[in-house]
Amino acid sequence: MIIEPRMRGFICLTAHPVGCEQNVINQINYVKSKGKIDGPKRVLVIGASTGFGLASRITSAFGSDASTIGIFFEKPSSPGKLATPGWYNTAAFEKQAQEAGLYAKSINGDAFSNEVKEKTLALIKEDLGQIDLVVYSLASPVRTDPTTGITHRSVLKPIGAPFKNKTVDFHSGKVTEISIDPCTEEDIQNTIKVMGGEDWEMWIDSLKTANLLAPNALTIAYSYIGPELTEPVYRKGTIGRAKDHLESTAFTIADKLSDIGGNAYVSVNKALVTQASSAIPVIPLYISLLYKVMKAEGIHEGCIEQIQRLYSERLYTGGNVPVDEKGRIRIDDWEMRADVQAKVAALWEEATTENLPSIGDLEGYSNDFYNLFGFKVGGVDYTADTNEVVEIPGLQ
Ligand code: NAD
Ligand code: NA
Repeated sequence: MIIEPRMRGFICLTAHPVGCEQNVINQINYVKSKGKIDGPKRVLVIGASTGFGLASRITSAFGSDASTIGIFFEKPSSPGKLATPGWYNTAAFEKQAQEAGLYAKSINGDAFSNEVKEKTLALIKEDLGQIDLVVYSLASPVRTDPTTGITHRSVLKPIGAPFKNKTVDFHSGKVTEISIDPCTEEDIQNTIKVMGGEDWEMWIDSLKTANLLAPNALTIAYSYIGPELTEPVYRKGTIGRAKDHLESTAFTIADKLSDIGGNAYVSVNKALVTQASSAIPVIPLYISLLYKVMKAEGIHEGCIEQIQRLYSERLYTGGNVPVDEKGRIRIDDWEMRADVQAKVAALWEEATTENLPSIGDLEGYSNDFYNLFGFKVGGVDYTADTNEVVEIPGLQ
């Protein structure tokens, strides 16, 4: 079929398998171009099909020849029905991994469930024996607690007072004022349940109990801080409370891993266009200004550049892992540079529908958004008849 983008609100309903494949190949080539990393050999990535998790899987495999198991929640393809991008990404990744002689298997299902955890444990036992690195990179709006059966929904809201600021609809380019009402106490607890550290700790507990973590095993989860501008709706809002919880869970897990010489980290990553971040109000305007400034400075990075740097310059240098005063790894260091933030803040004041295309990188934002779904990727023939059905070779 001929596959074209079909947008609805913040999502794209279609995905292009060849475009997704090209994105994955581009990321693999980037990692290869940076040379080998003396990194982990057996890696479990939870949230492995898109964004930072996919970049982590690619960096593990093609940066340090790791065997990888990927967990994700994606819609498969079938005749006449397109898969979600993460499915096509994973199919492409596994194909490339196989060609390179690298072990790669995947499990498609709800990572929050006991069932997927049990299936993963059995696969590790059978195939890899133990794991050297567990990457926890889920971004989800819902979680069913496997103990209580209750389904929790996260919200993106300020705490205590309404938040009024500018935002942009990146499809139309319209800059408008938005006002978001504050959350309830229940919203905070639900958001912590979904995006906090509880499930990360459950994964590590079950892996450790089954003796599936190797000596000196590491685990890492991803967080975000961002500028003062977005604080009310991000870091000091409901999602920020969940990130606080995730960050404190790293210490709890680190304690639990100390007897095997292991450790747990949170890495604070840069703001990037992903399916998760496009849905957060105000963030797209911030990102479009940030991209403009960082590209002008020559310090712009995507997920793959971020994670390659995380591995090669933070986690696997052979020396101590550098962390901030709160114990967090910072690869948002270039985003948070004072000169970068001052420029973004000044542009923010000025931003209007009329000037955003020139003072911000609206085009870069939009392009990255299309790229997430395999569209507008260089070198892909979008007029070609494309097979929508793509298999993941190592799917369990
Ligand atoms: P993403 O949407 O690209 O990836 C989410 C992944 O989680 C996908 O692989 C998806 O299949 C998987 N997933 C979602 N629900 C699942 C479920 N129930 N079971 C199994 N898999 C499931 O998101 P992302 O932006 O890469 O986010 C990953 C992490 O990075 C999040 O913790 C996010 O807060 C953090 N982060 C993101 C940004 C950003 O700007 N995008 C910045 C810093 C940190
Ligand atoms: Na991810």
